[in-house]
Amino acid sequence: MRISAIGQTAFIPKQPAFRGNWSEEKLKSGNFAPTQNKELTQITYFFRDVEGLQFIGKHFADKDKIKILVGACSTGEEAWTLQMMLGDKAQIEGFDIGRAAVAKANYGRYEIYRAYPHALVEADKHLGFGLMNSPDQKTQKKMFKEYFKQTGVNTLFKTFKVKEEKKDLIKFFQADITNLKPAVEKGAYDVLTFRNALYHLLPGLINLSMPQKEKTMAVFDNICKNINYALKPGGLFVLGRLDTDKYVGPGLFISQALEDNGFSPVLKEGQDMPIVWQKTREV
Ligand SMILES: C[S@@+](CC[C@H](N)C(=O)[O-])C[C@H]1O[C@@H](n2cnc3c(N)ncnc32)[C@H](O)[C@@H]1O
Repeated sequence: MRISAIGQTAFIPKQPAFRGNWSEEKLKSGNFAPTQNKELTQITYFFRDVEGLQFIGKHFADKDKIKILVGACSTGEEAWTLQMMLGDKAQIEGFDIGRAAVAKANYGRYEIYRAYPHALVEADKHLGFGLMNSPDQKTQKKMFKEYFKQTGVNTLFKTFKVKEEKKDLIKFFQADITNLKPAVEKGAYDVLTFRNALYHLLPGLINLSMPQKEKTMAVFDNICKNINYALKPGGLFVLGRLDTDKYVGPGLFISQALEDNGFSPVLKEGQDMPIVWQKTREV
């Protein structure tokens, strides 16, 4: 099992949890951004980094419907987490650049680990199968059971599938954050998330040369133009924890690019790590 796509190893100590999906995929040749990493790391899990997601519900408390685009959705766990948290209020779509990830997301079958096979495995505690207790475990497990039915069990994990009556709620499609315009309607979404994925658009993590920095800045600038295009005025853009690292990670580039392209921070994690941004003007 490989963990280290670009810089992924450097991020491991910050991960609060690490089970869920561990799949990987390699991009074939195509018209990608010059800094796009072709080795895709599709690690994800249900109820990951919920703070940014909870903010969406609070921010749009007065709205009956919120249209949400979950970018870098991998195999779908983040999109389903939002659906479970927001219920009927949410109309969700998901996209990822990886064809296999999108196919798995549309199939909707998930393995939830019952015990930790190794030290890093912690994520499924959110669903109540791990050894550690999470304060939200009971609520999250209840929400999960409303949307997923158990289809199998062995000593390591239980298998679940999205319930028949829920499966059409979310459609997943293949798209690239650096070229969203052909795939989405302008100004269609209240929220766009692109969490724990921007490191795929960096040419490296440390000691970037000046030409590499300039190339990366141009790619991030274009990403933010695409996000601005997809969002309604006042819409929210949500990042993950891995995206805010401004010393060796994407945070070096993303905050500047968002500010240049009509966004202001509305939720910070810790002292100075913006994870939710609001669109304040068209570009
Ligand atoms: C680590 S997963 C993040 C999954 C989920 N957002 C989360 O936070 O748990 C990163 C995902 O980004 C996707 N990705 C990488 N480059 C992309 C791009 N240019 N456009 C869309 N998705 C991309 C990968 O295929 C992978 O599924």
